[in-house]
Amino acid sequence: MAQGAILVVGSLNMDQVVRVPHMPVVGETLLGAGSLKLIPGGKGANQAVAMARLGGQVAMAGRVGRDPFGERLLGALKSEQVDASLMVTDPREASGVAFIFLSPDGDNAIIVAAGANMQVGVDEEQFAHIVEAMRQASALVLQLEIPIETVKRLTKAAAEMDLPVILNLAPAQPLPRTTLSQVSVLILNETEASILSGQRVESVDDARIVAAVLQGYGIETVVITLGAHGALLVTTDDAGKKQSIYQAAPKVAVVDTTAAGDCFVGALTVALTEGQPPEDALHFAVHASALKVTKFGAQSGLPTKEEVLASYHS
Ligand code: RIB
Repeated sequence: MAQGAILVVGSLNMDQVVRVPHMPVVGETLLGAGSLKLIPGGKGANQAVAMARLGGQVAMAGRVGRDPFGERLLGALKSEQVDASLMVTDPREASGVAFIFLSPDGDNAIIVAAGANMQVGVDEEQFAHIVEAMRQASALVLQLEIPIETVKRLTKAAAEMDLPVILNLAPAQPLPRTTLSQVSVLILNETEASILSGQRVESVDDARIVAAVLQGYGIETVVITLGAHGALLVTTDDAGKKQSIYQAAPKVAVVDTTAAGDCFVGALTVALTEGQPPEDALHFAVHASALKVTKFGAQSGLPTKEEVLASYHS
């Protein structure tokens, strides 16, 4: 892995996308529109590809199965210049898949069959390679589609070597306070923030209150994404002064919200790792994810850096 690369440890899924007229209810058979679409996805891989398209130097560690989906998922990483030398092909488990129902207004419902993703870090040999690579990385990016135990162990190892951890708490799951206190940047949406804090998050003001509570766990920077309403970032600067920065989202025609959060995580990480001030990084991330929702598919819809910068003036 190249010195200074951003290391993503996370999931890869083959997304199986069906357009539906509305979300099905129990016992209902729905006729979807058109054919099934297979698109490379998975929160970890989406974030890695987002960063690569946005100008980051990225390596990814994860697991796929010894199957055609696995080959395609690995191929998708490599074609985006993501270093895949820490990827492992699992001899027993199938590649992860995600079943995605996409509604006409671009919203989705997702079910993941994690497969090989749930072996990430379980294999001690791969775990040791990841920790070794962390010594050369500029940041470690994690989500929660791999075993929680792996997330806890990697966060602890990163804290011991002073490596910043960016954690995207998706899908939402409880984490011990010790792990949270070792995270540098916590990124979560309204629902995830509500689950973690036990408090309602329905407005920017709610987000401000909850972000401050989460910062109290010892996290330097907390970012709560608010969908079409933008995002809020709360941080403490070098002088120990607390800053709360809100960025509204531009209005866009929504096609597909899948991976909008992943695009946000990727963009914010690249900008912060480049040393951009938090307000510029937040502006970049909100505009990147707004562009994502105008395009279909997870990795297929992620924007480039040039597209994001051009969108500032449109
Ligand atoms: O965040 C979007 C992703 O969630 C999809 O690509 C799907 O694979 C699930 O992991």
